[in-house]
Amino acid sequence: MCGIAGYIGFRRADEVIISALKRLEYRGYDSWGVAVRHENEIRLIKRMGAIGDEKTYSVAEGNAGIGHTRWATHGKPSEINAHPHTDCSGKIAVVHNGIISNFQSLKEELESRGHVFSSETDTEVIAHLIEEFYKGDLREAVEKTIGRLKGSYALVVMHAEKDELVAARYKSPLVLGVGDDELIIASDVPAILDYTSRVVYLEDGDLLVLMKGDFEIFSDGRKVNRKVETIPWSIEDAEKGGYEHFMLKEIHEIPRVIEDTLFEYLSDDIEIDISFAAGVSEVTFIACGTSYHASLIGKHLIEKLAGIPVRVEFASEFIYHQPPMHRTLAIAITQSGETADTLEAMRIAKKLGARTLAIVNVLGSTATRIADHVLYTRAGPEISVAATKSFIAQLIVLYLVALKLSGMTKSEMEGLLDELRIMPELVKGVLEHEDEIRAIAEKLSDYGNMMYIGRGIGVPIAMEGALKMKEISYIHAEAYPAGELKHGPFALLGERTPVIASLTPDETYEIMLGNIKEVKARESIVVAVTGHDDAEVEKYVDHVIRVPRTDALFTAVTHSVALQLLAYHTAKARGCEIDKPRNLAKSVTVE
Ligand code: AGP
Repeated sequence: MCGIAGYIGFRRADEVIISALKRLEYRGYDSWGVAVRHENEIRLIKRMGAIGDEKTYSVAEGNAGIGHTRWATHGKPSEINAHPHTDCSGKIAVVHNGIISNFQSLKEELESRGHVFSSETDTEVIAHLIEEFYKGDLREAVEKTIGRLKGSYALVVMHAEKDELVAARYKSPLVLGVGDDELIIASDVPAILDYTSRVVYLEDGDLLVLMKGDFEIFSDGRKVNRKVETIPWSIEDAEKGGYEHFMLKEIHEIPRVIEDTLFEYLSDDIEIDISFAAGVSEVTFIACGTSYHASLIGKHLIEKLAGIPVRVEFASEFIYHQPPMHRTLAIAITQSGETADTLEAMRIAKKLGARTLAIVNVLGSTATRIADHVLYTRAGPEISVAATKSFIAQLIVLYLVALKLSGMTKSEMEGLLDELRIMPELVKGVLEHEDEIRAIAEKLSDYGNMMYIGRGIGVPIAMEGALKMKEISYIHAEAYPAGELKHGPFALLGERTPVIASLTPDETYEIMLGNIKEVKARESIVVAVTGHDDAEVEKYVDHVIRVPRTDALFTAVTHSVALQLLAYHTAKARGCEIDKPRNLAKSVTVE
């Protein structure tokens, strides 16, 4: 997730902006840049990597400027692609968060009128459009420009000839800090708190003009007033958006992550070119950890919807198999794009003749350079070691790939697409049950062992639920297909081993109820995760976690979010260090 900072006031703008950008470092970034207005010119620096010590960068003297930390989405991480972007004259500078979905057609249109582009970004079209509309009034030019944009944006614009910033927001946050004789605009509150705790949250459609000592907000062309609020948080609290841990914040970001990922690949139809799968007769997933569990769900989806046989391999084990792969599509799933075992398995799959597709969250990561084709998840940077929102974003891409591979017509898949479209709302429906989930978690927090069970798609849901529980709460949690319990794990059950059962509304439901009765007969506490309208299950279990009802295929999303919350609150009740569990790293770059 990129970070924006803009300043106008009495201090040196470059110093304020660089310190503000450093306050946004927790969001993750690969490059950064700052532009300052100096003697009717735009002075600019752009750099790769971390900002480091702000004192080493002096851009220029000036009291108005804008800056940006970039997490690459369109165009690889590089100095040229870093923001701010300028127009042909170099007089207009723009920083932008979000995605301009019609940037390609706008770019071609602008090029046909002589505009020359230097970057691969969608943002640069904004600078060139403003240049075309600019007739001495920056606000008017920005207003006309955003009328041409499709997608999402938070943007801040500056012109070399006036101490003035113009900002606009649509589906990407912007907050204004109101100090004494100074204004600071940013994508998040931590960037502001060193200067003021008085803020105005912009709303979608707002256009903001920042002048020395004053500001005006417009909506639909009319001046509007927005409330000035006082932030009670410390900077550290603010980085977590007021949540106690990044993990919880990231779970609560899931509805937005789903929207962003769907926005990328689903409009009227599924916008994924699956020519990479032409002629393949089987699919092999290679991945580790949570991404491996996403792959197991991918297997379920592709086999069920597209009828293509699928294997799922631990990347670390694939090295020892090396099957012939001439008609295979190898799909590597990796949030970081840097997991050593996954990268090595991808290289081997290529050597064995497979076509490779990577589903990755980090643009420009090594996996994206090895793979023949790449699909990006739009989860934004994930800080907590435990994967939550990135896992759900992986599932969203897998639903779309499986539906596309199915060969169903648009009308045949419309029902499923409609459910996908409301998935952000369904997840909000899960999050509304957080208090009940917390109460159950507190009851579970004293146990040393747990068993997660499911059938069908419920098995990988159980496996991911158990992984979340063990990695952050340090409770030993096993996951089994419910039908396997009798073949050994039953011996572990008893009153000191709670069982978490995922019930999905499909052909597995009745038999799962039977399994739950068998478990109860062994005196284990049972927690069922099930649809909100399931009146039957509560007769047999101790606790029920209710989620909105969906087609069974989509329970992988709703149940997983509920199980992420269960793990989080259990770990919290046990006083564990949640965001950085012992012995674990976010990116595993050794085999
Ligand atoms: C899960 O919470 C972990 N962070 C871990 O299992 C992770 O999914 C695994 O290391 C794979 O990482 P990747 O997706 O970046 O390849």
